[in-house]
Amino acid sequence: MNTNLKKKKKWRYFWKVQKKKSEEKTEEFRTLNAENISPQGIPEWKEVCEDWGACMLGAAKTISEGVAIGLKLNRSYFTDLLENGPHLLAPTGIDFNKYGKLNTIIAGYHYDLNFITLHGKSRFPGLYIWLRDGRRCAVKVPEGCLIAQAAKQLEWITGGFVYMILYTLDFFGDGSEARKGGALHFNDEN
Ligand SMILES: [Fe+2]
Repeated sequence: MNTNLKKKKKWRYFWKVQKKKSEEKTEEFRTLNAENISPQGIPEWKEVCEDWGACMLGAAKTISEGVAIGLKLNRSYFTDLLENGPHLLAPTGIDFNKYGKLNTIIAGYHYDLNFITLHGKSRFPGLYIWLRDGRRCAVKVPEGCLIAQAAKQLEWITGGFVYMILYTLDFFGDGSEARKGGALHFNDEN
């Protein structure tokens, strides 16, 4: 195996975005319902994560309703299923002093196992999707926007009508812009 792929180069923090569940539900899925823990030294962490999490989950639910309507299903067909899901906000960083080199793979070719993945705009390029015909396309997120991509559960539940996105995060292009910067923040789930 390529050792470049074995070593994780990202810093990632998972913050659960969910409303308080019943005692019964909490007990049934104890490992998915542990309390969130904020890192030391960042007093605004909880508030920022909760704000971002609520906004992104709201966007994901609106998109899910749109998909349901497009498929001539009840508007809440998917959102009902998502109701008690373990939704995650995943602030992610990379130390460019160590890993901001050309031909570095940050996240290898993969798809996500969840329902929908949203990405915010990162400070640097490097996110690519792979189309069904094998083409690799750079993803450019407009300022102030999120992008949404289908993950495996959406493909399964639509019987393959909606296809999960295969993607990578790497610096195979011109890495000069990336090397100038400090921390990088993607919302990549892998
Ligand atoms: Fe991912």
